[in-house]
Order: sequence, then C-alpha cells, then structure tokens
Amino acid sequence: MKFLLFTFVGVVHLFSLNSGKAIYKNDNSQRTFQEIKEEVARYGDVAKAIINLAVYGKAQNRSYERLALLVDTVGPRPSGSKSLEKAIQIMYQNLQEDGLENVHLEPVKIPHWERGEESAVMLEPRIHKMAILGLGSSIGTPPEGITAEVLVVTSFKELQRRAREARGKIVVYNQPYVNYSKTVQYRVRGAVEAAKVGALASLIRSVASFSVYSPHTGIQEYQDGVPKIPTACITVEDAEMMSRMASRGNRIVIQLKMGAKNYPDADSFNTVAEIIGSKYPEQVVLVSGHLDSWDVGQGAMDDGGGAFISWEALSLIKDLGLRPKRTLRLVLWTAEEQGGIGGFQYYQSHKANISNYSLVMESDEGTFLPSGLQFTGSEKARAIVEEVMTLLQPVNITQVFRAGEGTDINFWIQAGVPDLESAISPKSPISSTRSWSQST
Ligand SMILES: *[C@@H]1O[C@H](CO)[C@@H](O)[C@H](O)[C@H]1NC(C)=O
Ligand SMILES: *[C@@H]1O[C@H](CO)[C@@H](O)[C@H](O)[C@H]1NC(C)=O
Ligand SMILES: *[C@@H]1O[C@H](CO)[C@@H](O)[C@H](O)[C@H]1NC(C)=O
Ligand SMILES: *[C@@H]1O[C@H](CO)[C@@H](O)[C@H](O)[C@H]1NC(C)=O
Ligand SMILES: *[C@@H]1O[C@H](CO)[C@@H](O)[C@H](O)[C@H]1NC(C)=O
Ligand SMILES: [Zn+2]
Repeated sequence: MKFLLFTFVGVVHLFSLNSGKAIYKNDNSQRTFQEIKEEVARYGDVAKAIINLAVYGKAQNRSYERLALLVDTVGPRPSGSKSLEKAIQIMYQNLQEDGLENVHLEPVKIPHWERGEESAVMLEPRIHKMAILGLGSSIGTPPEGITAEVLVVTSFKELQRRAREARGKIVVYNQPYVNYSKTVQYRVRGAVEAAKVGALASLIRSVASFSVYSPHTGIQEYQDGVPKIPTACITVEDAEMMSRMASRGNRIVIQLKMGAKNYPDADSFNTVAEIIGSKYPEQVVLVSGHLDSWDVGQGAMDDGGGAFISWEALSLIKDLGLRPKRTLRLVLWTAEEQGGIGGFQYYQSHKANISNYSLVMESDEGTFLPSGLQFTGSEKARAIVEEVMTLLQPVNITQVFRAGEGTDINFWIQAGVPDLESAISPKSPISSTRSWSQST
C-alpha cells in the first residue's frame, strides 16, 4: 500500500487548488462547492481502478521492486558522488522505457563533500571509543586530530551563559529532543555558535527521538565571518553520559579526528517526466521526491521511497490509459540533503510560470503505512482535498492534516501554491537520517 498516496493525484489535479495569493486562471472559480463535490464523486470508479491496479493487480509491489533494484545496484547516492549521477542516468532511462512523456534532465550545480575517515575517543575520565558521524559541509581536523577538554551544554542559552568556559574546548550539545524542526537547529547551527565563543570543535547529540547507539548525519551550515570548526553528531547515549560525568565534576577529554573535505561544486540534474494534460497542458500538478541520499545509508527510505512512489503515480495512470486534464509532472530532485539545492534551482528556473502551477507535492517523511496527506493552502482548497480523499475510503486513507511542507517544495508553498505531503502513521519507525528543511 505504500504507493497509494500518490495515485490519488490523478484525481486531485482536476481541480485548481490555488489559494488566491496570485491570480489563477481556471474554470473552477464560478463553480459551487456542491458542483465540485459532485464532480469528485464521479471519479469513484477511476479511484477504484487505480487502487485495484496498485494494491491487488499487476502493479502490486512494483514500486518496491523498482526501488530495490536501484538501491541494490547503485547503493548510497551522496551529493557530488559518481553513484548519484549513475542513479540519475538510470532513472532517465527507466522513465523513457516506462513510456512517459517529455523525459529530460535539468542541470544543477551541487556541493561535493566527503566525510573521509573519522573517529572520536574519550581519553578522560576513561577510555571510550565513540560512534560519530561528521556533518555535511564540515571541515576536517588536522591529521593528528584535535585533543581538548569538553564543555557539555544542554542549550544555546547555556552556551551563552558559559561562553567564557568554552574557549579552546570541544562543545558537546546534549539538547533534549523536542521535535525535528526545533531540535535540528543544534545540528545546523551548533558549530557556528560554538565557534563564536572560541570552541575548537562541536559534537552534537543526534536529532532523534530514540537511539540504539546510532549517530545520525545531516547538513550543517557555516556563517560568513565565523571561524569554521569541525563538527559531528554523537549518539544520544554518549551525550547523556557526558552530561552525567560533567555534573559529577569529571574532567572529560576527547580526541577527535575527521578527514572530511569539501570539493568544488559538481554537475548534476533534476530528473523530470510527464503525462501531458489533455485540456490544460500548460497547468502543472507536480509530484516529487529526492534521488540523492547520505553516504552512510542506502537511501532506500530517505528518499528512494518518496521518489519511487511519485514515479509510480505516473506509471499507474499511464497503465490505465488515463490522461489527466492538467499536466502531471514528476521531478526527482538532486542534492536535497545539502539544503534543497535541486529544488531551489528548479524554483528559480520555473517560477516565472508559477500561476500555471496548481499543486506541488513531495514525499520525504518515509514510506510506511499511509494515514493521509498533509496540506497547506486555503480553507476552500482544503475542503476540496478532503472531498477528494473520500475516494480513498476503500483503503481507509482519508485524513487531511495541516502544515504540509517539504524542503524541495517550500519555495512554492511560500509563494502560495497549495502543497500536499504524504503523512505516515505516527507509530512508524524513524529513519536513520533526516533532511534539514530550509523552512525551519
Ligand atoms: C507482493 O509482496 C507480497 C509480500 O511480500 C507477496 O505476498 C505477494 O505475492 C507479492 N505480489 C506479487 C504480485 O509479486
Ligand atoms: C516544535 O516545538 C516548538 C517548541 O515547543 C514549537 O514552538 C513548534 O511549534 C513545534 N513545531 C512543530 C512542527 O511541532
Ligand atoms: C512556461 O510556460 C510557457 C507557456 O505554457 C512554456 O512555453 C514555457 O516552456 C514554460 N517555461 C518553463 C521554464 O517551464
Ligand atoms: C500560463 O499558461 C497560459 C496558457 O498557455 C499562458 O498563456 C500563460 O502565459 C501562462 N502563464 C505564465 C505565467 O507562464
Ligand atoms: C481507518 O483509519 C483510521 C484513522 O487512521 C483508524 O483509526 C481506523 O482504525 C481505520 N479503520 C480500519 C478498519 O482499519
Ligand atoms: Zn529526505
């Protein structure tokens, strides 16, 4: 059932859901809600056909099998790597062989960072080898590493208060997990804030609600005018242990070695395919996921799953011989993990046509048992989406949540285009790496 969320766009795109921040030309403005509701209801059979093909028919498991093949063949796909470019070329070919229209690549310059060898060893109060993961864009240490005393803080406020103690030390952040968007600030800004008060390096408790001694990587950001210091994530367990040691008055010393390097920007692409609309071909409904991943996983969940269910949406509609009124466009973003680089480039190149974008969607929260869709847009548009979601009653995925967002599509949302993101069961396991959202 993992691909069901996106099969639904085949129906959604029959309506323009724009919020009215811009002037949208469409044929819906004069229609009453009752008329729209009746039109939605007429798509019951189409929705059932899509569900049958995806869940019970020959497309059963297809997106999973397609994804498994790519992941098994290419492996991790970090920004700037040869394997990401190989994955893009494979997808370009896959989409053409799938019979989709207007398959093409749009160039993007993307960051190229490699973590190299890395290690952290606690020397005092006892010898303890720690699991770490360097953060994307971090500089490395000198080859002999950085050996320094540790200052443990639980917040940026505490760091400010104890600024004079931080000079010449390694700052360890043991911030509690509140939610992703709030807690990820420590990963993104931890090095800059530590450098401002004279620290030599920073180690950040992984941004995770639970841990099995597993550090999480992700992007971090330096700031102009602030010295660049090496920065990595540590496990929740080690962060808490160092907090306990510090509160007992123990002196903690760590030797940190990181071989991380930033290389010149690399050439890459957003990958695009379409089913061209029959009645309003210039109007676009965009579905998407990102093809790049971090280097330490397989990128199957983040975001292979999101990318492949987006592709599956077009495949299912094509297989059924359906042609939507508006153009259904698939975009597989590049370099999302570096801060939505591909998404930003796409927005820059296409924003002149924003009034012809009806809806943008991204799946990047993991592909588990779906529970509904997150939506951002006007209340009128929300009412239509809720109506459309009733068509998914046969698979009981009818909920419409608030605050849809996604790193690659936030530029459009901020400009007023309605947005949907797949929502997953809150009981779902947590992926090992999460992307940083530029909206936060
Ligand atoms: C899909 O996967 C399920 C679970 O692995 C399996 O039982 C089923 O036979 C598969 N269906 C097809 C068409 O391969
Ligand atoms: C995260 O937590 C902060 C602080 O409690 C809160 O202000 C914010 O609204 C929360 N964000 C989300 C997405 O829940
Ligand atoms: C913008 O829309 C026009 C008219 O539909 C189309 O010809 C043009 O290719 C579009 N430009 C981009 C960058 O998509
Ligand atoms: C939207 O599409 C229409 C029809 O092709 C075109 O006339 C108009 O210029 C487009 N608007 C923009 C902003 O591209
Ligand atoms: C349908 O979904 C709702 C909301 O997720 C859930 O509470 C309910 O138990 C589900 N019903 C069935 C029959 O699975
Ligand atoms: Zn992601």
